[in-house]
Amino acid sequence: MSADLFTPLELRSIEIPNRVMVSPMCQYSCEGLDGLPTDWHHTHLVSRAVGGAGLVMSEATAVEPRGRITPYDLGIWSDEHADALADTTAAIREQGSVPGIQLAHAGRKASTMRPWEGRDPITGDDGWETIAPSAEPYPHETGEVPTRAMTEADIADVVAAFRAAAERALDAGFEVAEVHSAHGYLLHEFLSPVTNHRDDAYGGDFEGRTRLLREVTSAVREVWPGDQPLFVRISATDWLPDRESWTVADSIRLADDLAALGVDLIDVSGGGIHPDQQIPSTGPGYQERYARRVKQESESDVAVGAVGGITTAEQADALIKNGRGDLAIVGREHLRDPYFALHAAQQLDRLADIEVPVQYHRAF
Ligand code: FNR
Repeated sequence: MSADLFTPLELRSIEIPNRVMVSPMCQYSCEGLDGLPTDWHHTHLVSRAVGGAGLVMSEATAVEPRGRITPYDLGIWSDEHADALADTTAAIREQGSVPGIQLAHAGRKASTMRPWEGRDPITGDDGWETIAPSAEPYPHETGEVPTRAMTEADIADVVAAFRAAAERALDAGFEVAEVHSAHGYLLHEFLSPVTNHRDDAYGGDFEGRTRLLREVTSAVREVWPGDQPLFVRISATDWLPDRESWTVADSIRLADDLAALGVDLIDVSGGGIHPDQQIPSTGPGYQERYARRVKQESESDVAVGAVGGITTAEQADALIKNGRGDLAIVGREHLRDPYFALHAAQQLDRLADIEVPVQYHRAF
């Protein structure tokens, strides 16, 4: 029998009760510039668990302070951060959902203002020097943040920061970890020939450019329990067909390499490396074709998540039924409708296959 949106997904010892995942979405809502969660984070994440999503993925959570996109991003660089997140993971589990955390480093796209403040680079005392594979700042329209090419010692520090962050995420009660290697942030900057101009072992050919991600993945896998799933989010393409860039074929090859390192699911997104990118469409399911290609063309049987423009129950259900992906990853529609999964169950006549909070039983 083929799977559909309400077929549980078993990855290692974790059962995700349905195929709806809340896409990681930065809230830029820390108060003290200390990366600690606030009531907003708790409410935001737990209400999506109340709404029935099988997996609730936290926003990009910085593994070290200079890896934050804005000064207000969530972090997990100390035990205090892990302790502060524990109530939230417990509340997500209480609702029958699986709590996940996206571990992130913003690389050269760090040190910017919040979206509602214009996203401008912070160049004054409130900002910081960013690190990247090469000393080439991200070309923001309104200026740039000083960017330093990472030394081998910096690289070792970043690998260690991801490893320590994964250990703390486990202490905090997360059951799935996702390494963020998409959207033009640090690990993607190493993958892409658009941003990686190194001539050492971490640059050059495919092998060199993928080395840092492979090292980070192995370090995280070493400390992440063998019975818990590990995801990696990638940009399947840089959407820069006019120059040497990261392509879908590269992503398919990478998916197999990551699967061999113990990655259970590739979360297939796109773009973000350079403002010249040409996105062919932002309509319904605009990145599904890449998820389908990674799923069908990779040699490993690594699971795949599709994200981008998924807004309806029918669309999410068809994605799973037609084998284009194993997980429907829903971002902005979850901001419009925290109860997306409950509504989907209602619309697809599958309320028997989802846990409706008893308090809401008269509504669904
Ligand atoms: C995002 N996105 C995002 N992606 C990611 O990998 N980590 C993150 O922290 C964020 N933060 C974020 C914040 C906000 C407010 C939005 C709207 C988006 C991208 C997001 O996860 C998703 O990939 C895209 O929004 C496309 O999916 P939807 O929104 O079309 O379902």
